Amino acid sequence: MVDSEQVKPRPPGENSSAGKNPATVFGGKSIVMVGLMGAGKSAIGRRLATKLDMPFLDADNEIEAAAGCTIEEIFETLGEAHFRDGERRVIARILSGPPVVLATGGGAYMDETTRDLIAEMGISVWLRAHLDTLVQRTSKRSNRPLLKRDNPAKILKDLMKVRHPIYELSDIVVDSNDGPPEDTVERVCAALTAFGEHGAKGAKP
Ligand code: S3P
Repeated sequence: MVDSEQVKPRPPGENSSAGKNPATVFGGKSIVMVGLMGAGKSAIGRRLATKLDMPFLDADNEIEAAAGCTIEEIFETLGEAHFRDGERRVIARILSGPPVVLATGGGAYMDETTRDLIAEMGISVWLRAHLDTLVQRTSKRSNRPLLKRDNPAKILKDLMKVRHPIYELSDIVVDSNDGPPEDTVERVCAALTAFGEHGAKGAKP
């Protein structure tokens, strides 16, 4: 895979391209940020939502609100499997509502049911980052239970091996390394627009 953004065309007829604003182009679909911990899903998603004048939701925050406790507490008291069940349900609930920009937790897209739902109801954007970037960004907070199981760099490296081939199934890939977040947001917008135009081309007889 090359380092620049990649845009995969939808099958013919799946998108209209009524306008240049991605929110219009994708009329009715949510934009779903996927990627590893520290990829910038919330930071970029929030800015993207502002730019597109769409609501922003963070799946992790919604899970915590629904459970009445933190993700760390869910992992500790009920276990990861319980967290994953809640994550699947919360994302399904969000995607069944009005379109939003949704930042998912790093493991959400690994669930096949969630992935299928995202493909149906949303446009998935994989924010791809180098290991060093992920390690540096995640070191700023200590609230991620998976990163406490061993050396965080080792865990993230192992997760990259397992998860990148699945994240690759997403509609759009945008690199999210150094540089101002605004630049990444611009590149996501450009990729979304290009994605809409590919879909429109495919839809023509
Ligand atoms: C997880 C990522 C976290 C959170 C949970 C599990 C994962 O979200 O959902 O700690 O499996 O990668 P972020 O990706 O927003 O850190």
